[in-house]
Amino acid sequence: MNNKIKLLKQKRGEALLGGGKVRIESQHKKGKLTARERLHFLMDEGSFQEIGMLVAHRSTDFGMENEKYPGDGVITGYGTISGRLVYVFSQDFTVFGGSLSETHAEKICKIMDLALKNGAPVVGLNDSGGARIQEGVVSLGGYADIFYRNTMASGVVPQISAIMGPCAGGAVYSPAITDFILMVENTSYMFVTGPNVVKTVTHEVVTSEELGGATTHATKSGVTHFACANEIEAIQHVKKLLSYMPQNCEDKAPALPYEIKNELRPDLNNIMPENASQPYDIREVIDLVIDAGSFLEVHKDFAENIVVGFARLAGRSIGIIANQPAFLAGVLDIHSSTKGARFVRFCDSFNIPLLVFEDVPGFLPGTDQEWNAIITNGAKLLYAFCEATVPRITVITRKAYGGAYDVMNSKHIGADMNYAWPSAEIAVMGAKGAAEIIFKREINTSADKEAKWKEMELQYSDIFANPYRAAERGFIDEVIEPAETRIKLIHAFKMLENKVVNNPKKKHGNIPL
Ligand code: HXC
Repeated sequence: MNNKIKLLKQKRGEALLGGGKVRIESQHKKGKLTARERLHFLMDEGSFQEIGMLVAHRSTDFGMENEKYPGDGVITGYGTISGRLVYVFSQDFTVFGGSLSETHAEKICKIMDLALKNGAPVVGLNDSGGARIQEGVVSLGGYADIFYRNTMASGVVPQISAIMGPCAGGAVYSPAITDFILMVENTSYMFVTGPNVVKTVTHEVVTSEELGGATTHATKSGVTHFACANEIEAIQHVKKLLSYMPQNCEDKAPALPYEIKNELRPDLNNIMPENASQPYDIREVIDLVIDAGSFLEVHKDFAENIVVGFARLAGRSIGIIANQPAFLAGVLDIHSSTKGARFVRFCDSFNIPLLVFEDVPGFLPGTDQEWNAIITNGAKLLYAFCEATVPRITVITRKAYGGAYDVMNSKHIGADMNYAWPSAEIAVMGAKGAAEIIFKREINTSADKEAKWKEMELQYSDIFANPYRAAERGFIDEVIEPAETRIKLIHAFKMLENKVVNNPKKKHGNIPL
């Protein structure tokens, strides 16, 4: 037995070394951690249980039978993060550049199958040169097996992809199907075709970083939800993200204990500027309403005219979607609509209640928006809210104009409670534009056109630049003092805790894509 145990230890030792000391040093020199070091920082101490440590590839072409590394370039298993079960894979760049072979893919599929059967999240730490070139089509098949499982698991268990190195070719599509992507600045990149192919096909000269680095995807494309300064920050973000989520779609997110005390927030009464066309930062409102310091903003630097993220209210996990008057006046456009829609759908999939702060002058006009399908993209946000069955509350802080009033979680599309601050303006459009259209004749025939226009503008704004017409109709459940917002929301979300809505039975809806 002693000899047999010795052999086992030797095999384990080889697996722990991955592609060997030289390649580990090279990984460190690039400012990157190894696959095992990342797992060490991610998982609760001593909780990680490895599966498939001794798996080896079956390839025989190009002399591959003589080059095998136990584990075959990916460490897979399960363990706990903050005491909760999570399945995880961590690609090892020191073994064939973390490239995906048939067996490497099988290992990932095995833990994904376990995650689905046992209802727990999957976290992927990606660091890979893509398909194992020596293996050809079996490697491509392996990717497809993963994509299929990503799709089957979507909406059943949360899936998070941290990109810790290269992620090229079709390999980007597994992370893209998962719920959240995190990238590390300067050491990770994602693209379908790299700079060389780009140069050949389009003659554009671009670096990897410019083409598909963390900053590019966090600001321009929106592909990544988080751009992190380093790997440790990315790992901390993964842990924090998971803390707002349930284990699966049948579960509720964990709530922290909370005792209601003095929940009035008088500072909220002083946030709104005197003039309705002046901006303010909606994050100040969010910070005063939620549990102190609990906001985790998602897609922070992308489509900044809408702010989305997770927070806690009286200890409970909620998802916030808020127009941002400090950026493009909070207008809805293509990117903000898709950003909002995706977040709403994630929260709804995983039973996380939705809180909307509304201050929106409408949809952004122009040929750029129309030709790039603001109609279809705006409809995504509308559709996402309409189909959401979680508790849904809206607070209209100021403008709720036009179609945007309907879209931003109005009662008509299924919101449960809608509040308005006294500063709310709920109308088809702003008073100036409205007066110009409906009082055109009066203005044009008047001796002093400007004065008449102003008079008519005031008349329109007296009637509609307030929340009371909507409150008379019951479209607003209560007009509240801003200082009361937090306590009103705490009570309302508690009241909605056991909400049940069953949408009509269907195979699946056809969200406008
Ligand atoms: C096999 C690979 C590999 C791959 C890298 N290696 N990529 N082995 N298959 N795809 C190996 C290298 O041979 C090398 O082995 C080690 O990994 C490290 O690679 P380096 O090139 O030395 O590292 P670096 O300079 O950091 O460059 C990393 C890289 C580059 C940018 C990822 O290796 C690269 O461009 N690789 C190919 C990327 C690619 O085209 N993949 C296929 C994409 S198509 P040694 O022995 O020297 O350590 C695809 C299809 C998916 O993925 C389809 C899904 C639908």
